[in-house]
Amino acid sequence: MGTNAIPPPGTRRPFGGLRRALIAGALGTLVLGTLTAVTGPVAAGAASAGTASVSAAASTLGAAAAQSGRYYGTAISASRLGDSAYTTIANREFNMITAENEMKIDATEPARGQFNFTAGDRVYNWAVQNGKRVRGHTLAWHAQQPGWMEALSGSALRQAMIDHINGVMNHYKGKIYAWDVVNEAFSDSGGGRRDSNLQRTGNDWIEVAFRTARAADPAAKLCYNDYNIDNWTWAKTQGVYNMVRDFKARGVPIDCVGLQSHFNSGSPYNSNYRTTISSFAALGVDVQITELDIQGASPTTYANVTNDCLAVPRCTGITVWGVRDQDSWRSGDTPLLFSGSNKKPAYNAVLDALNAADPDPDPTPTPTPTPTPTPTPTPTPGTGECSATIATANSWSGGFQSTVTVRAGSAPVNGWTVRWTWPGGQSVSSLWNGEASVSGSTVTVRNAPYNATIAAGQSTTFGFTANGTAATPAVTCNSATAR
Ligand code: XIL
Repeated sequence: MGTNAIPPPGTRRPFGGLRRALIAGALGTLVLGTLTAVTGPVAAGAASAGTASVSAAASTLGAAAAQSGRYYGTAISASRLGDSAYTTIANREFNMITAENEMKIDATEPARGQFNFTAGDRVYNWAVQNGKRVRGHTLAWHAQQPGWMEALSGSALRQAMIDHINGVMNHYKGKIYAWDVVNEAFSDSGGGRRDSNLQRTGNDWIEVAFRTARAADPAAKLCYNDYNIDNWTWAKTQGVYNMVRDFKARGVPIDCVGLQSHFNSGSPYNSNYRTTISSFAALGVDVQITELDIQGASPTTYANVTNDCLAVPRCTGITVWGVRDQDSWRSGDTPLLFSGSNKKPAYNAVLDALNAADPDPDPTPTPTPTPTPTPTPTPTPGTGECSATIATANSWSGGFQSTVTVRAGSAPVNGWTVRWTWPGGQSVSSLWNGEASVSGSTVTVRNAPYNATIAAGQSTTFGFTANGTAATPAVTCNSATAR
């Protein structure tokens, strides 16, 4: 390290924090005496002497991630909560918790209609009592299904999936930061869907899961989560990307994509990971790294993953899939950040990268603006006018799907009612993001509790599927009946 390794006061460089950390390490071992004599009582922050705006580096992963508004999480196993060495590290380092197995389908609904949240609540309560947030994992998945669900098919399975989502999300309503609504639905090759009992209920099972989830807990972010969608060039990544793009275009409620990021020799980290993250984010969803582990735990690769997330404003956090190597589902790969109670080199690489993050991320808007849901906590009477249009999103023999866009005029709307009359015997079969009532051929749809408010000049959408021939009747919108 040459003398120019210390930036002049006031000079803001990318990776300044990393430089500071390296310098601090050098000070500790090499030149502390010399520099202390020159700079006085600033040994802990020699590089920042004279730069009051530079804060001290955080000393835990969670605190370091929080400096840029992100979280750093881990998977927790309820069976290890009695191990104080385990809980000491987990509590100190992480501020987002995923139950490794305890909120999965087999754990939460072991018999049909009989929900069991004992183990899930142990993880949830430990997290919340220690001031951490919780990611929910997972509601619809081909794996870890209870036997009764594995045995179902067709409409019975579809209904069971809907009932399961409602049952679990209702129990944790308002308590979960983000749910992995659907897990691992894509094939490992070719970019299409994975065959599964859920897939065989019809290709729309994923969007039905997301719509069900939105209605069950409007406060939770809704994620699609998968592995081997890290490498931008892989067909599976493109398949998921196309699904998310389609969902955003059609108004299917999705808020985030989870990159599991289980990296190993068969599925290694690639430098195009940053492109993957930024490309998903540009669709208007958050990206979360949800199950990170790296075979061998290369510090360089861990740093690269961290920096790739930090480079994308909508990459909101990272979760490693376990605390210590001995806790890992792939313990033979020694893929995590701790060995026993010891911090591994990868730990320091991650901490340094997080500490180097710009605490004030570039506020430049992402290419695709977020479709602002803006829930207003204190409703004011809706006085503005609204208008609505209906568009056919999809149609098939005997049925169709439509999207209705409800727009506010120059004043905000708080509560809206949309109405139309079918021209030719059509009938709504399911409707989301609104509450429908039918009288003869007239359909009346009122806002859902969470989308009553529309800011001036903004819009919201609801959707439905219907029987009959696709039609786009004239739609009236009334904001005078606000509730
Ligand atoms: C794993 C758990 O870590 C193991 O304990 C369990 O035996 C199997 O599942 N993708 C996922 C996670 O979404 O739920 C999986 O977790 C790892 C792969």
